[in-house]
Amino acid sequence: MMSDKLILKIRRGEGHIYSRIRRLLKSLCTLNPPYVKPIHLPLYYIQYTLTSGTKWLFHFMWSIPLFKARCEQVGRNVSLPNGLPFIVGSNLKIYVGNNVTIYRVTIGASKVYDEPVLRIGDNSAIGYGTVLSIALEVDIGDNSMIGPMCMVMDNDDHPISPARRLKGEGVTKDDVSSVRIGNNVWIGSYCTILKGITIGDNSIIAAHSVVTKNVIQNSIYAGYPARPTCRDIDKESFNVGKKSQQSEDR
Ligand SMILES: CC(C)(COP(=O)(O)OP(=O)(O)OC[C@H]1O[C@@H](n2cnc3c(N)ncnc32)[C@H](O)[C@@H]1OP(=O)(O)O)[C@@H](O)C(=O)NCCC(=O)NCCS
Repeated sequence: MMSDKLILKIRRGEGHIYSRIRRLLKSLCTLNPPYVKPIHLPLYYIQYTLTSGTKWLFHFMWSIPLFKARCEQVGRNVSLPNGLPFIVGSNLKIYVGNNVTIYRVTIGASKVYDEPVLRIGDNSAIGYGTVLSIALEVDIGDNSMIGPMCMVMDNDDHPISPARRLKGEGVTKDDVSSVRIGNNVWIGSYCTILKGITIGDNSIIAAHSVVTKNVIQNSIYAGYPARPTCRDIDKESFNVGKKSQQSEDR
C-alpha cells in the first residue's frame, strides 16, 4: 500500500526530505512540556498520597482478609506489599506466623499428597517473584529471609523417566522430599533450593546459588552447586573481633 511505503521511507529516513521528516517526528516524540515547580511538586505529592492511600486501603480491606481466610492458621501483622500471592492448589495447607511479609510470590501445590503443607515462621519474609513448589512440605523457620526470584521445591515437578514424561505423567510420592529452611536463614536472590534439602540455622545462601545438598548451620554456601565458603559465621566474626582487639592492644 501507498501509505505503508511512505511510512517505511520516513522510518528509514531515505533521502533529504524523509530524513528531515524523521528527525522532526523524533524530536516531537521526545518533547517535554514545561513545568512549574511550585505547581507541579504539590501535584506530585497529591498523586503519590492518593495512589499510596488507595494501595494501603486495598491491602488492609481486601488482600489481608482474603489471604488470612485462605490460611489454616495465621499470626499478627502479616504484610502483603504487592497484593495476594498467587496460590495454585486448593489442597495446600498454609500456616503463617507473626510479622510475616510475603511479596508477590507464586505457591503451587501438587496433587500427589492429599494435604501438602507450607509453614512460614515468625518474622520471616519471602521476596518478589519467588516460586514455592510444594508436593508434601516446605517449612520455613523463624526470622528467615528468602530473596527475590528464588525457587524452592520439594519435588522436581516432572518425572526423570523420559517414557513417563512422554505420557504426560506427573511426579509420584517417590519423587518428593520435604524442604526445611531453619531459623535466621538468609537466602540471596535467584537461588534454587531443591527437594529434600535442609538448611541449618543462621546460614546464608549466596545469590544465584543452586542448593543440591544439605547446608550445615552457621555457614555460607555459594555457587552452582552450592559449596561452603565459610563454615562457622559466628567463629569467623569472633576471630575478626579478636584480631581487631589484638591490633588495638598493640
Ligand atoms: C553471601 C554474601 C552475603 C557474601 O558476602 P561477602 O561476605 O561480602 O562475600 P565476599 O564478596 O567477600 O565473597 C567471599 C567469597 O565467596 C564468593 N562468593 C560470594 N558470593 C557468591 C555468589 N553469589 N556465588 C558464588 N560465589 C560467591 C566470592 O567470590 C568470594 O570467593 P573468594 O574468597 O574465592 O574470592 C553475598 O555474596 C551475597 O550473595 N549476598 C546476597 C545479596 C542478595 O541477594 N540480596 C537480595 C535481598 S535478600
